[in-house]
Amino acid sequence: MTHTIHRLQILVAWVSVLSQKSRLCHWNVEWAGFLELHEFFGAYYDFLSNEVDNFAERIRALDNYPKATFQEFLSISPIEEQGGMTSKEMIQTLLHDTEIITTLVREWIQDESDLITQDMFISFIYDLEKKAWMMKSLKKVWVIG
Ligand SMILES: [Fe+2]
Repeated sequence: MTHTIHRLQILVAWVSVLSQKSRLCHWNVEWAGFLELHEFFGAYYDFLSNEVDNFAERIRALDNYPKATFQEFLSISPIEEQGGMTSKEMIQTLLHDTEIITTLVREWIQDESDLITQDMFISFIYDLEKKAWMMKSLKKVWVIG
């Protein structure tokens, strides 16, 4: 069970950093495509934030305690905070970070011994890959320009 807790903890940390980054984009996006990007980033923040809650509460259900400060999250997260981005950079960095998480969790699925957690990983990846597809589609607007 230790590896399960460890994996859930990684997700609490990494996804927390990504969710806050998405919220930063929701707040600061400007100019072309503002409205749809503002909405997309806001919805992505809501989704990720809810997933963090699920992973943290799974840790509690397994009788452990999640680390819960941003200092701890950032110390174990390869996903970095980033400010001063253009719309294009926002999409690019969120897509890049999303793919880092997707790749990692996909590797865990096969050998996850706790089937409830495995099920959470599968549905999380299902949703993340959908979001990645949307970001790839949003990104295409800048290929022409
Ligand atoms: Fe908002």
